[in-house]
Amino acid sequence: MSDNRGASIDFYFDGRVVTGRSGQSVAVALWDAGIRALRRSPVDGAPRAMFCAIGICQECVVTIDGVRRPSCTAVVQPGMRVLSAPELSTGLGR
Ligand code: FES
Repeated sequence: MSDNRGASIDFYFDGRVVTGRSGQSVAVALWDAGIRALRRSPVDGAPRAMFCAIGICQECVVTIDGVRRPSCTAVVQPGMRVLSAPELSTGLGR
């Protein structure tokens, strides 16, 4: 049986190597790797995960190569450095 999932792409999440697939979003690549918590709630510290998967809710915000952005709309790139988002006192967290 052939594998048509796309080429493997290694990137980093909080210093850990994660392998995604060509064309996959960062959020889905992390989900496939068993990583669900992408940030913590600024209210109660609860882990937050992908919700809408279309860039609307901002629940999946992480820091990618120094830029805070939704991981569900960012496509994996070789060597990209993704950090779980520390919550800011203002910004995208809810
Ligand atoms: S899951 Fe809603 S913006 Fe990414």
